Amino acid sequence: MKSVDSLATPAALLQPEKMTENCRRMQDICRKAGVGLWPHIKTHKTVAILKAQLALGAEGATCAKLGEAEAMTPSGVRRIFMAHSLSDLRHAPRLRQLHSQLDELILAVTSSAHWEVLEKIVAAADIQVPVALAVDTGLSREGVRNVAEARTLAQQIRGSRRLQLVALYTHEGHAYGATSPEEVDQVAARVHAHLIDVREAVGGNLPLWPGCSVTATRMVGREAVTRVRPGSYVLGDLSLTESTQTMDTQQPALSILATVVDRPTPELALIDAGSKVFSSDRSRAGLYARCVDRPELVIQKVSEEHGYLTGPGVGTLPIGTRLRFCPAHVCPVMNLAREVHWVRGSDVLETHPVDARGRSD
Ligand SMILES: Cc1ncc(COP(=O)(O)O)c(C=O)c1O
Repeated sequence: MKSVDSLATPAALLQPEKMTENCRRMQDICRKAGVGLWPHIKTHKTVAILKAQLALGAEGATCAKLGEAEAMTPSGVRRIFMAHSLSDLRHAPRLRQLHSQLDELILAVTSSAHWEVLEKIVAAADIQVPVALAVDTGLSREGVRNVAEARTLAQQIRGSRRLQLVALYTHEGHAYGATSPEEVDQVAARVHAHLIDVREAVGGNLPLWPGCSVTATRMVGREAVTRVRPGSYVLGDLSLTESTQTMDTQQPALSILATVVDRPTPELALIDAGSKVFSSDRSRAGLYARCVDRPELVIQKVSEEHGYLTGPGVGTLPIGTRLRFCPAHVCPVMNLAREVHWVRGSDVLETHPVDARGRSD
């Protein structure tokens, strides 16, 4: 068996036991509440990881882009929710093809302006599809901004020959701004109350689909919530462990193995992973990554191919030292990785391609 020591760095390492435990924990909470888990694959973009999620009981998958969905079909997934504003007529043939491959394809309608465009795309694709109406609950990204807009858009969809309104959904990404579990509780309660107001206004007792990695466990069990779509819970990162304290520091399953390549001053070591590995996303404390093996060491600055490693004792690290790092935000990190190595101790068990890497098309 290949050894971790033989891997060139930087390398993405995944501990399958931790990943399975993260999946199982979320799945158990959903199952007990009778809520469907539709993990967002934007986090891992990897067929092997989606397969594990499906094997543990995920009902379907959520994707943002058609390219992601296309890359995930070898997993055997039968049901996909495209939680994005599909708006390019050129996508119609690919949409038709994807629709024909799945048991269920659900699209998003994210505003009245978007609805007009989506009508043309589904007509060009010559398909009829269930759709979920997006509600903005505080992130101020996609979604109807108030109850009146929701009523109008629901009417427009209900008048459509090709679209069937089946749910209200939201992405409450602003929950990542919460600084304590109590604050996340409050955000979750407000988001749910807002969705209930919209639900009453549009009628039809529509099911509610909120639930990102920070809020999902707080959403299951609430009135009318039937599906959640967490993404990063499966791998974990500093935004979940440190910024929102949603996850324990031992839970993240993915780390980046990197090497100390220079030590220009006693206070600074340079590693071979910079923004082209960790992306430009930072944790609330301003970190790009924290060292897993020596948590007092952090990356507070990056250039493209260098991470600036600082902290107590950094001046004694020999060049060539290999260290593992937990990234601030795991989703862009996976999108930048070519492959991910499943490891146990010093053994490399399997190596999988990041199948939907770069598939923002
Ligand atoms: C529409 C939508 N649903 C679900 C998610 C999953 O979020 P998270 O990775 O925070 O769980 C995202 C993340 O951006 C999203 O945009």
